[in-house]
Amino acid sequence: MNNALIERVDAEYGQAEQKAAQYFASLHKQLMNHTYTTELTQDIHLWQKKHIHRYPWLSFLSRSKRKPDPQDVQRYIHWLNVSGKLDDYLDRSISYIYMRDLGKALDSPDTQARIQRVVQDTKRYFLSSASQSNREPDYISLAALYRWSQKENVESAIIWVMNKLKSVAANIPEELDAENAQRKLIKIILGVVLHVTDDMNEETPSDERAQRLDAAIRLGYSYGLTYPFIDDLLDSQALTVEEKEQYSLMIREALLTGVVPDIKEWKGEHHDVIQYVHAELREAFEYIHNYQRPETQRTFLQQSYVFFQSQEIDRAKALSNGDYSNEDLYIPIIIKSSSSRLIVRSVLSAPEDEGFDLRTFYYGIYNQLADDFADMFDDLEEGAVTPYTYYLTFRDQRPDLINPYELYWTVISHLIHDVYHSDNQTREVILDRAINGLKRCRERLGQPKYNEIMDILASGQPEFNRLVQKMVQKADDVDFLDKLLRDQVVIHLRQDKKEKQEFVDTIRTVREQINRELRISKPNGLHEMKETLIDAANYSLQGDGKRIRPILTWVMGVREYGLQEAAIVPLLRSLEYMHTASLIFDDLPTQDNAPTRRGRSTLHHLHNSATAELTGLYLIQRAIGEQSSLDRFDAQTVLSLIRYSAQKAEDMCMGQAMDLNSKGKVLNLEQLNQICFYKTGIAFEAALVMPAILAQVPESEIDTLKKFAYHAGIAFQIKDDLLDLVGDHLVLGKPAGQDVRNNNSTFVSILGEEDAKKEMWEHYCQATDALHEMRKTIPFLRHLLDYIIGRER
Ligand code: IPE
Ligand code: IPE
Ligand code: MG
Ligand code: MG
Ligand code: MG
Repeated sequence: MNNALIERVDAEYGQAEQKAAQYFASLHKQLMNHTYTTELTQDIHLWQKKHIHRYPWLSFLSRSKRKPDPQDVQRYIHWLNVSGKLDDYLDRSISYIYMRDLGKALDSPDTQARIQRVVQDTKRYFLSSASQSNREPDYISLAALYRWSQKENVESAIIWVMNKLKSVAANIPEELDAENAQRKLIKIILGVVLHVTDDMNEETPSDERAQRLDAAIRLGYSYGLTYPFIDDLLDSQALTVEEKEQYSLMIREALLTGVVPDIKEWKGEHHDVIQYVHAELREAFEYIHNYQRPETQRTFLQQSYVFFQSQEIDRAKALSNGDYSNEDLYIPIIIKSSSSRLIVRSVLSAPEDEGFDLRTFYYGIYNQLADDFADMFDDLEEGAVTPYTYYLTFRDQRPDLINPYELYWTVISHLIHDVYHSDNQTREVILDRAINGLKRCRERLGQPKYNEIMDILASGQPEFNRLVQKMVQKADDVDFLDKLLRDQVVIHLRQDKKEKQEFVDTIRTVREQINRELRISKPNGLHEMKETLIDAANYSLQGDGKRIRPILTWVMGVREYGLQEAAIVPLLRSLEYMHTASLIFDDLPTQDNAPTRRGRSTLHHLHNSATAELTGLYLIQRAIGEQSSLDRFDAQTVLSLIRYSAQKAEDMCMGQAMDLNSKGKVLNLEQLNQICFYKTGIAFEAALVMPAILAQVPESEIDTLKKFAYHAGIAFQIKDDLLDLVGDHLVLGKPAGQDVRNNNSTFVSILGEEDAKKEMWEHYCQATDALHEMRKTIPFLRHLLDYIIGRER
């Protein structure tokens, strides 16, 4: 590496250190003088007028207005609205985000106007969707995210980023927390998107808007990667000490030169991890590089280097070392908490904004101290050095150590008065947040533990602390929307994870069960030729099929409709026999001419076309035989099932015929949908409708199932077409690239990969809509949709 360059960045870091040291010294002085308690005492007296209600018992008079559990977002927001509190609630919530995430000053009229606009939009949004209760909230629904991307014309970026997030979770070493990595990335992406959104208005032309949002999403991900892939990775045990050194050097070089260097030779056992991380970082760096103008590129790299360096210094600390000075502890924190925020703008090549830079610089440590306060016990357990853990560990031996809780209030006072010029709204919002933070802490820890920690942290300023604790006890209207949503998201994600696991378990166990039932037996005394056919049929059945259709039938039949498992086994068999027959035909030289299927040679390859055709026919007859032995159901019902099945089989033949007839032709969207519905969607419909027929479910419900099946089925086929393009034949168990070889007209060949994905997501959304129309939520179907579009085979 170039020495002059190193010297320059070291000098830059030195400057950052100097600036941080000055800031720290001034805070330290204010802390020692206790000026902050006098100022804040006055602030709190002003503030409390809006928050301490003189006659709390009055609220008991109107029972209907009693506060509902904030966990129920819709009801809570409704209650705020009815109580006349919603505007203030949204105002403080949005104002806070403008201050924290966008680095704005609340006393600017322009910012106020923007905040009020967002408040009104948010209000409209929550009050309008208040009635939609039978669905997951928009902020955790992929369908809602995709719908948003359609509205903003950024589908490609959203599809791209969803894939990236998935791949991060799949590839991240297990020593790191995959979900946490995803959460951090999402947070950064949101932050960058927020910056860009706020920078635009109604006059921004829609294609410029789309372009900027698209870039923000990709830049957010690219920059966000530094959190899991640099900071967390170096914090974790996923690499050896020697590997970390090499890695750290590589990152340093990348930040110095703007190019992620090649991995020349890697000394260590985690080569695979490094290879993935390296490739991903390189792509991210290139993306950022290509987006930026040269002058902002320099700023970006400089800030990133400073950010990285401050973390390296912090990372090297150990809680067993009692010798760190206050400066050792706080200066890197001031640097890292501000530089991480400054980067969000420089990554966007946003114009320099001195006000923003300064506010952000002063603000960072406030947020860091609030976070460290909330995480103090977790951090202690992990042995992480933060101002709080360090103070708790060494306060007895080290009277010189600054109490971080006192510093926190000092920073608050400094922000309110010196940075935001004693602005009323700023005082309001910051104190709301501070009291809310303490309330939440008390709730989490319980009163005794909370008192204990307050005794330790707040005893130096007893009078001030009494006032603060009175606010924690008595003040009202200090909660925030972002906290509410965060809690909600955490609950939903936990639930979702549980459901997903149940889905995976169901798929596995039911599949095993079905596999045991599929084999066709050969009673003694069969004719030799019949034995050959049965062997051939079993050969195809025994291949590694996913059994999605009968699994779906099992879940709907047994779980949803309460049918006897043993009673519907013939139906399960019939579905898989029909499907396997359709694959045998589909693979024939006269159709797709495929050499492998389900991980083995196709039947016509193993034997010949005649045997394959006859085996297909044999399986179809066998399927009808199974259906007619559904003898635990009413005969009329079974007959209508067979009638339905026969019609659907006819339609599937037509679908295959349409498919073959379309080779080399240019199809429109309607034609593509039609073909895919007939050749593929129908089988999904049958898998859902047949158990519903047996359970004598009302026609209206069957219509909703059909709507779901239509979209899920087409999505399934589009995914199949996409896998044919990019899949791995070993994973697929069938050849890839078959559609190109055959000159087939598929979603991919007609629309291209990108637009085919968009169509797949469109069907995903419509299938989700169908689920919302259902009488009751069926988590399995929601997860099935995710599985359909996310599968690798
Ligand atoms: C393949 O179906 C035929 C299509 C409709 C694309 P599957 O992908 O369900 O195949 P198996 O049953 O798992 O082999
Ligand atoms: C098959 O579509 C539709 C059937 C129902 C057989 P494809 O021809 O794309 O299925 P694969 O890719 O061969 O499994
Ligand atoms: Mg085909
Ligand atoms: Mg085929
Ligand atoms: Mg295919």
